[in-house]
Amino acid sequence: MQTNLRGRDMITTQEWTRDEIDTILDVAFDLKRQRALGVPHAYLRDKALAMLFFFTSTRTRGSFEAGMAQLGGHAAFIDSTTTQISHGDTAKEIGEIFGRYYDGIAIRQCDWDFGNRYIRDVAAASRTPVLNMQCDIYHPFQILADLMTIIEKKGDPRGLTINVSWAYASSYQKPISVPQSLILLMTRFGMHVRLTHPPEYKLMPDIVAQAQDNARKHGGSLELLDDFDAGFQGADVVYPKSWGALLTTTDNAESAAIGRRYTDWIADDRRMALAKRDAIYMHCLPADRNIEVADSVIDGEQSVVYDEAENRLHVQKAVMALTMA
Ligand code: CP
Repeated sequence: MQTNLRGRDMITTQEWTRDEIDTILDVAFDLKRQRALGVPHAYLRDKALAMLFFFTSTRTRGSFEAGMAQLGGHAAFIDSTTTQISHGDTAKEIGEIFGRYYDGIAIRQCDWDFGNRYIRDVAAASRTPVLNMQCDIYHPFQILADLMTIIEKKGDPRGLTINVSWAYASSYQKPISVPQSLILLMTRFGMHVRLTHPPEYKLMPDIVAQAQDNARKHGGSLELLDDFDAGFQGADVVYPKSWGALLTTTDNAESAAIGRRYTDWIADDRRMALAKRDAIYMHCLPADRNIEVADSVIDGEQSVVYDEAENRLHVQKAVMALTMA
């Protein structure tokens, strides 16, 4: 267990060691137990977190805001459109100024080829920790919650097969931050990771290379597939979700047109039957019901999506308590 995490940013799990991630999980399980038992755990009394959103959210906002309250502090919801950012406040101003008001700055900025750079620029100017609530490249808190959920449901993740798969959705071109963060973290925990997608839905080559390196170092594997059904075959964990064809085109209409070639990539009962009988179905949400996933799957016995969403609360509280105390 590591005890020197005060002041650290969480921008990607890649910048945290295995020992440090184990510490987050250990604290998250402890905080979950304390909440279940009604034990007060105000580790951040009198502390304040700025939550700066450039994009909509249900789970991330709710879980950070509730989490700060449960830790005895306050979270300020700041919609970027209500700030002076459009009138000239740069990332430096946000980091310098919010870093003096708040004990942590959490940011969601998912704009392609911009979000991560913005968050890093704020972090460079801030004297307090910066927490990535999702950018164009990474979604670290989602993936920490996913790992916690896999451990809860399946025990030691080493040797388990997880299928990180593209699926069709019509609602919008979703960021690639979830599949990228999944392949990065799960390969560090010795999992056999399948990355399954049509050819137009490639992830960033550098991220795939890092995941391959992680797998080599930690005894897992990374296999690339382009057959939706094959991805499900014999898997312990299935995580089919949509993302935009961002490495192929940055034009939303063109990306949507490419997606319509693959409307049969829906997680349904037939596909679930290809996985192990005790396989779990995961999704970060929101999902396009009956387009991306059948109701019978997302509401079925193998689905763990609500426990997964709950675990956002516990891992985020762990990181805040460890970095902002
Ligand atoms: N999974 C997730 O980040 O959900 P929100 O977009 O609702 O925050």
